[in-house]
Amino acid sequence: PRYPAVLCTSRNEVIVHGIPRKDDVLVDGDIIGIDFGIFREGFCADTARTVMVGQVSAANRLLVDTCREALDRAIALCVPGARLGDLGSAVQSHAESRGFSVVRQFVGHGTGRAMHEDPQVPNFGKANDGKRMKSGLVIAVEPMVNAGAPDVEELDDEWTAVTKDGSMSAHFEHTIAILDEGPWVLTRPASTPGNPAHDRD
Ligand code: CO
Repeated sequence: PRYPAVLCTSRNEVIVHGIPRKDDVLVDGDIIGIDFGIFREGFCADTARTVMVGQVSAANRLLVDTCREALDRAIALCVPGARLGDLGSAVQSHAESRGFSVVRQFVGHGTGRAMHEDPQVPNFGKANDGKRMKSGLVIAVEPMVNAGAPDVEELDDEWTAVTKDGSMSAHFEHTIAILDEGPWVLTRPASTPGNPAHDRD
């Protein structure tokens, strides 16, 4: 079925594609992933972050921080000549170093005139493996990190993806242009320090 909402809201054990509902009420200690895309002048940007609600446990905070850090590590590698396996390896090794797992069933992706374009951008893999990135490529990198096992289950609504073991899951995503000057994170303000767009304007 067509996705019935604008945002994806993925609470606690929901990995991605949670559908917002009025009776799905946030409580203190929850973590919730918020994911959405925007088209502007015919091009798409896709971004997500996991937000901590009130006082979250140390375990949940570590999960969320680790997922964000894994994305930051991958972004730093978004330069011409680097390989997609370098990104996957960076995400996977950081998540697993904390005892977490990365989801295999969903991956990042190229983005442009459509939200989902080639190439696939896995959150696992080996350094020095996979396709090389060229200047001008735009990709959405989106680690999904589970506190438990990586296995995914889909609910009857045919969208909501949850962890099979019921463990917590975090998700961050940015859309990144690979440029000779370095990674331009299109889903951060142009004024962000280190952003090549900052110097162009
Ligand atoms: Co995406």
